[in-house]
Amino acid sequence: MFVQSIDISRFRNLEDMHLEFAPGFNVFYGDNAQGKSNLLEAVYVLAFLKGFRADRIPDMIRFDQERAQLSAVVCDGNAQTRLGMELTGRVRHAYIDGVPCNSVRSYLGILRAILFVPMDVGFMQAPPANRRSALDRMVFNLHPSYLVDLDQYQKVCKQKSAVLRSDAPDHALLDAYDEQLLKYGERIIRFRYDYFNLMAPHICRVFASIFDDSLRCLPVYKCSQMRSEIVFGAGNSASCDDLVGVWRDYIRTSRDREIARQQILAGPHRDDWSLNLDGRQAKLFASQGQQRAMSLALKLAEIDCLKSEAGVEPVFLLDDVSSELDPVRNRKLFEHLNRITVQTFLTTTSKQHLSIDCVNRLFMVKSGSITCDA
Ligand SMILES: Nc1ncnc2c1ncn2[C@@H]1O[C@H](COP(=O)(O)OP(=O)(O)OP(=O)(O)O)[C@@H](O)[C@H]1O
Ligand SMILES: [Mg+2]
Repeated sequence: MFVQSIDISRFRNLEDMHLEFAPGFNVFYGDNAQGKSNLLEAVYVLAFLKGFRADRIPDMIRFDQERAQLSAVVCDGNAQTRLGMELTGRVRHAYIDGVPCNSVRSYLGILRAILFVPMDVGFMQAPPANRRSALDRMVFNLHPSYLVDLDQYQKVCKQKSAVLRSDAPDHALLDAYDEQLLKYGERIIRFRYDYFNLMAPHICRVFASIFDDSLRCLPVYKCSQMRSEIVFGAGNSASCDDLVGVWRDYIRTSRDREIARQQILAGPHRDDWSLNLDGRQAKLFASQGQQRAMSLALKLAEIDCLKSEAGVEPVFLLDDVSSELDPVRNRKLFEHLNRITVQTFLTTTSKQHLSIDCVNRLFMVKSGSITCDA
């Protein structure tokens, strides 16, 4: 899959423009604050219907303007789709081949993208809610139907929370919501469990080949109702049925506590995950450089996993990565990127950071204008 072209109008600081991209490497270079990340965000918005810096639509419309428009031609095999987006005030309108699309589910998944921004480096120190959304997006990228269960689960969570906060919680209603939570929550846990099982060898291999082949980097899932955590790829201590079983028991025995605290105390909406390095929690023991490498390995593993498990070649949006790595690892990263052959949009402040055999298209970004050098 690749983005063949994009049309931009009144989006952030970018000038109105039409750009044609190469199916391989597209590099955007320029000084700070010129519009490089804004260009990546334009592609991201077309993929996910939201920006990666703020969820507020008005922030993405050029200052002092009322509406922004984006559209892109996405090629996937022989199929070509034109995705369109109009941002006005607080509302966004999406279009597929010029036809308004009101269903988020039928829109998402047409353009599959994986984003790495410098902020991702700190994902292990971020609040659990941020990690959960990142995980949900990863699972969704592989299994778009995951969103259906997630939506349903979140809806029931809201309804049950409202009952828990009421003056006299209705037990029959809570029973009914618990059944629903278990139904959708079990699917979510299975999706996540299977996902980490699939991802574990990819993460481990990518980390070893680019960053350090003497250390094992593996994903870890932490259920809110269990003391222990599950390390994937290391002979799992608990099966998915175990996780669901413990949660089911917890729900049955925690009604009084949930009423007293007026909140749902356990479930996939409170679970967490992270990465381990050689059996230790990376969050506590890994160096900054190692955490950086692990966050990047995770993204690269996600690409590998999508390709091998679903035959999907996502577009890779890589914002300013070279400044994060030492020269040896930077070279190995580019060797890896050369091998994986997915369309890549890469931004950098200096062309010196690039060690790519063939940049297919080089763009200079200056004061919101983007010109193609080669
Ligand atoms: N809605 C908006 N309207 C106009 N300009 C905006 C808007 N939102 C952000 N900007 C401006 O766009 C400029 C470019 O931002 P961007 O993040 O794309 O820079 P960059 O080239 O990625 O820089 P860096 O190398 O520092 O990451 C910034 O000066 C920012 O203030
Ligand atoms: Mg930037």
